[in-house]
Amino acid sequence: MNQTYCIELPGESATLTLGKALSEMIEKQGKPLVVIFLLGDLGMGKTTLSRGILNASGYRGNVKSPTYTLVEPYELEKRNLFHFDLYRLGEPEELEFMGIRDYFEQPAMGEKPSICLLEWPEKGGDYLPDPDFMVELKLKTNTNGSQNSIGRTAEIEVLNKELETGMSALISRLTQKGITCK
Ligand SMILES: Nc1ncnc2c1ncn2[C@@H]1O[C@H](COP(=O)(O)OP(=O)(O)OP(=O)(O)O)[C@@H](O)[C@H]1O
Ligand SMILES: [Mg+2]
Repeated sequence: MNQTYCIELPGESATLTLGKALSEMIEKQGKPLVVIFLLGDLGMGKTTLSRGILNASGYRGNVKSPTYTLVEPYELEKRNLFHFDLYRLGEPEELEFMGIRDYFEQPAMGEKPSICLLEWPEKGGDYLPDPDFMVELKLKTNTNGSQNSIGRTAEIEVLNKELETGMSALISRLTQKGITCK
């Protein structure tokens, strides 16, 4: 069984904070290539989470989902980041033509590490590698007295054992701030 964690994200800023925490954990862990699947329905916050990771990697510009181009590359100071959105992909085979394999190559010695973030990986079929971890975002209604607000929960499943220690440290830090799911 893979390790899984659940975190409450009451608002957009919590999603960005999770992105920052993930970015820092990945940097500390030092793995040259990290592949992350972002799951969840339309509008659940996958791009927001990507923005949190990008901002923490030093990117200050606009982040939009690369729905039509399928991938947006970011060459940043500490890493290269490839943000995929496969929502409009017709057939998984199209990924072969766009040279998808190149993105999942381990960076050579001396090259910057890279992160591949994939929205809608379900559309990619067998052309995608196994991810290091997956984040699934879901709706969650929060009740505060008589006020209701709609937030999200994030369920994180860690598939790569190398990241388990870092992820569990990240979750305990976030839990201390009181944001793990009940
Ligand atoms: N934790 C949260 N609570 C409430 N709203 C949130 C939260 N995180 C993000 N949002 C909001 O959800 C909306 C949709 O976010 P986003 O575009 O990131 O979704 P998405 O999953 O990438 O959608 P798509 O599948 O269409 O690409 C944005 O308005 C964003 O501010
Ligand atoms: Mg998106």
